Amino acid sequence: MNPDRRPLMAANWKMHKTVTEAVSLVESLQKETGPCADREVLIAPPFTALKAVSDVMKQKGYCLGAQNCHWEEKGAFTGEISTAMLKDLCCTYVIVGHSERRQLFGETDETVRLKGAAAIKAGLAPVVCVGEVLEARERGETFEVIARQIEGALKGLSEEQMAGVVIAYEPVWAIGTGRTASPEQAQEVHAFIRGRVSSLFGKTIEKNVRILYGGSVKPSNIDALMAEPDIDGALVGGASLEVGSFKSLVQFNF
Ligand code: PGA
Repeated sequence: MNPDRRPLMAANWKMHKTVTEAVSLVESLQKETGPCADREVLIAPPFTALKAVSDVMKQKGYCLGAQNCHWEEKGAFTGEISTAMLKDLCCTYVIVGHSERRQLFGETDETVRLKGAAAIKAGLAPVVCVGEVLEARERGETFEVIARQIEGALKGLSEEQMAGVVIAYEPVWAIGTGRTASPEQAQEVHAFIRGRVSSLFGKTIEKNVRILYGGSVKPSNIDALMAEPDIDGALVGGASLEVGSFKSLVQFNF
């Protein structure tokens, strides 16, 4: 990490936790970690628990996010959730383009772009996820895939709109598999992403944009990942579901 960028530890709870379980977890987490001044903690529970989690989220440095949104402001879109609805629940972030949504629910670079733009318009910071599948890595196509996803998701945004955007690099082969990218593998792609962002939006955004790593982040690998200059935080699935492991991640050593 670079001390100029505030590290962000993001918990993606996916389809886990009832309202009662979510409240209990976030209350314990806040109690265990205490206030976070030099780092930010993002909790992204399922939609159903957003309100209850928002009501008990009091600790300094904690913020709330959703795992998805729709790009239209309102209308006949059964089962979808708008960015205004998320704002209404005190969300400040929304994850867009997670690989599970791309792979299982047909999201494309274009829908990710629409969602990111809708989030920014509503005053939410999108966490834009990108990442290559194993076959692409083995064919040597990682950078090509990442460049396409970054450009696809961010094209059309102004420098000003980019200011709040967070990018998450999550190699698909590392998500939920226990197989983490090595710090060097992750750093290589993060540096590449920063370079692409620089050529699209200029040096100020390059310097300020936060790029998270995701994919089997756990207490045993967080310090080494965070020691890399272009890794500014983590997007965490499995290890965010329990107080002990997520607390260790939040309290990583600078
Ligand atoms: P994982 O998930 O930490 O369980 O690998 C990460 C993610 O999908 O965001």
